[in-house]
Amino acid sequence: MAGRLLAVSDLHVGYPENRRYADALAPGDPGDWLIVAGDVGETFADVGFALASLARRFAKVIWTPGNHELWTLPSDQVPLRGVARYEAYLKLCRRFGVVTPEDDYPVWDGPGGPVTVAPVFTLYDYSFLAGARPGDGRAAALAAARAAGLRPADEGRLHADPYPSAAKWSRDRVAVTGRRLAAVAGPLVLASHWPLLREPTAALRQQAFAPWCGTTRTAGWHTRFPVRAAVYGHLHIPRTTHHDGVRFEEVSVGYPREWRRRAAAPPPPRVILGA
Ligand SMILES: [Fe+2]
Ligand SMILES: [Fe+2]
Repeated sequence: MAGRLLAVSDLHVGYPENRRYADALAPGDPGDWLIVAGDVGETFADVGFALASLARRFAKVIWTPGNHELWTLPSDQVPLRGVARYEAYLKLCRRFGVVTPEDDYPVWDGPGGPVTVAPVFTLYDYSFLAGARPGDGRAAALAAARAAGLRPADEGRLHADPYPSAAKWSRDRVAVTGRRLAAVAGPLVLASHWPLLREPTAALRQQAFAPWCGTTRTAGWHTRFPVRAAVYGHLHIPRTTHHDGVRFEEVSVGYPREWRRRAAAPPPPRVILGA
C-alpha cells in the first residue's frame, strides 16, 4: 500500500468557506488515510454529513470528537447530551466505516509504517489551570476566565450527562484509554482533539482559556508509549513542535477569520507519515 497518513482538525464546517474546503478535501493517492481530530462542526447533521462524505473519498477516515461535536445547541435537531451524544456519533461512524476511539486501532502499513493509529478521546478537566489538581479546578478556572473577560464557549453547551462534570467524564476516559494504549505493541500515532500536554497552550493569546484545553493526566503519554507523532487541534494554532523528542502536530483549520490571517486558503491536511 502506498499513500500517506494525513491529519486535519477543526474543520468547523458550519462556516460556508470551511464547508467548501472540507467538500474539496481529496486523497492525493488512493491509499491515503485521513485523521479528523475533532471540531468537525456544531450540529449532529453537519458532523455526520462531513464524515460520511470524507469516508467515501479516503481509504480510511479516523475520527475523534472535539468539544464542538459534544455541544448540544438548542437549534440542533438531535438533542442528545453527553455520553448519549458521543454514542450516537459512534453509531453514525460505524455506519460509514469511520474509525472511532472505541474501535480496534488500525495499523498504518504504508510508507513509514507499520504504525498503530490511535484516536483518543480524553476531554479536559481544568487541570491546565496553573496550580490546579486534576478534577478540582472548575470553579477557579471559571473565576480566572471571568477576571480575564472570557466566557468559555463549552460552559452551558457541552454537557457530560450522566457524569456530573466534564472533569469526571475525562477521568474515566483517561483511565480507559491509558489501558488500551498500554496494550499496543509497537509504534503509535496518537490523535486527540485536545493536546496531551499543557506546554502547547503557552501559545494561547488568552491564557485563561487553557483549563478547557486538556488534562495533566495525559502528560506522560508521549514518552510512556512509543509515540511517533501526537496529532491534536483545538488551539487553532497550526504548527509542529517537539516535546521530549516527540513530534506534536497541531493540525487545525480553524475559523475563516483565523486562517485568512495566514493565507488565502486553509492549508492542505498535514502529512504525518509517508512522502
Ligand atoms: Fe475548534
Ligand atoms: Fe475544540
